[in-house]
Amino acid sequence: MIASPGAEAVDRFRGIVARRLGLQFDDAKLAFLGEVLQRRLDQRHRAPDAYLWSLDSESFAGEIAALAKELTVNETYFFRNGEQFRALAEIVVPERMRVQAASKVLRFLSAGCASGEEAYSIAITAREAVGDATWDVSVRAVDLNPAMLEKAIRARYSEWALRETSPELRRKWFHGVGREALLDEAGRIAVTFEEKNLAAEDSELWRPSRYDAVFCRNVTMYFTPEQARALVARIARALVPGGYLFLGHAETLRGVSDAFHLRHTHDTFYYQRIDCVDSPAASRRHATPRPADPIVPLALGSDSWVATIREASERVAALIHSPAAPAGSGAAPAAKWDLLPALDLLRQERFGDALDLVRGAPPEFGRDPDLLLLEAILHAHAGRLGAAEDTCRLLLARDEMNAGAHYVLALCRESAGDRAAAADHDRVAAYLDTGFAMPRLHLGLLARRAGDRDAGRRELTQALLLLKREDTSRILIFGGGFSREGLIALCEAELRICGGSP
Ligand SMILES: C[S@@+](CC[C@H](N)C(=O)[O-])C[C@H]1O[C@@H](n2cnc3c(N)ncnc32)[C@H](O)[C@@H]1O
Repeated sequence: MIASPGAEAVDRFRGIVARRLGLQFDDAKLAFLGEVLQRRLDQRHRAPDAYLWSLDSESFAGEIAALAKELTVNETYFFRNGEQFRALAEIVVPERMRVQAASKVLRFLSAGCASGEEAYSIAITAREAVGDATWDVSVRAVDLNPAMLEKAIRARYSEWALRETSPELRRKWFHGVGREALLDEAGRIAVTFEEKNLAAEDSELWRPSRYDAVFCRNVTMYFTPEQARALVARIARALVPGGYLFLGHAETLRGVSDAFHLRHTHDTFYYQRIDCVDSPAASRRHATPRPADPIVPLALGSDSWVATIREASERVAALIHSPAAPAGSGAAPAAKWDLLPALDLLRQERFGDALDLVRGAPPEFGRDPDLLLLEAILHAHAGRLGAAEDTCRLLLARDEMNAGAHYVLALCRESAGDRAAAADHDRVAAYLDTGFAMPRLHLGLLARRAGDRDAGRRELTQALLLLKREDTSRILIFGGGFSREGLIALCEAELRICGGSP
């Protein structure tokens, strides 16, 4: 056995794995990485330095594949996140068929396909949705892990892999072989599998305008931020104009790419390359300014969340004395223009003064997203919900994935009596920023008021968890005058009403 690699070698190994495979491992995983490195050194009969030197060069044949077997997570199943396949069938395929009517060709990519379930699900869904055998529909599927690709090519799956597959599709596309299900030739024919590294440049894989839609789900969540950005940039390049990208549930493009519009249909989120011709079918775009809805003036005593905030006994002033939020804590969002004086005025509930300050910002900062968001919040605090809504829409036209703007819009929509749109904006905010407590709390309150105690309980339970670790500056900015403790108490009280236990 080769001598154990030291901490420095393991750290170098981590850096090379990030660079060559894209994968990120935090400090808690160092012991695991050390074990993997030890196994690879033993297998290759190399000392740590020599092994790491070879791994860092481009020509260490077979080693990247061997590492992929050790380091990747390969969990997958057919029709995972079924809503996305409904969006594929009902939005993406019909729209791409209109655009490709002359060529009758549709191309899909499953990037990080694991054992093939995703690629075959795309093929089955697309074939069913196209419904015309004269169309050429193909799915290219790539992964770094050769063991997974072998399994994909065999196309034999357990009951567990088919747990989300409808009986109808099972009957139509699979037949039993012993205790397993074999995908029929018809489902396999249009799907090809290749060993490819998504963390590497590959001019053939990423040829411009090659794919109508790319599924790259539950891959970037394991990547370093730089590698995730680089991969999404390659995907953007390789999609046709208006092409679609599907990510996993826990992945967003917020802060990763601005080359896409966010789409929200079928209770799911996906993306469309920004140079598309907008289709009516997929036009529930949150950045699209809607015709001005009449804003119902905020009435104290109404049961809206904004009204609750205004009636709250714990006011913003309390925050001044809160050790959790010292003035000038530096926790304000980074901005080119200094937001702290305006935030200080917000803390003092001097909304008019704060607004004057924000609006007096030099013109070069006038369209800064942080400044626009603060302006929207100040309008909302002052009860000028029409102005708050207009400012949010201006901001979303510039930064479609601004979770804060979606949340403030949710408050405005609720005050205007449009609870469906309010919940919609809350869901977008919660999806874009999974750590953002306020949209979850608002969704819980909306559900409870609509009499949906189950949904209320679900959202409020999640809100409670998030509130406990929510950033202090965000509580100041979005908490509507409540302290963290005030918001937690409110959340717990509402949870009890919904039959939950805090
Ligand atoms: C969790 S699975 C996701 C499977 C499928 N996309 C889904 O969502 O059900 C992640 C897959 O990404 C693959 N992967 C990770 N890093 C990769 C890389 N650098 N290049 C290619 N594939 C990679 C892994 O081998 C693994 O099969």
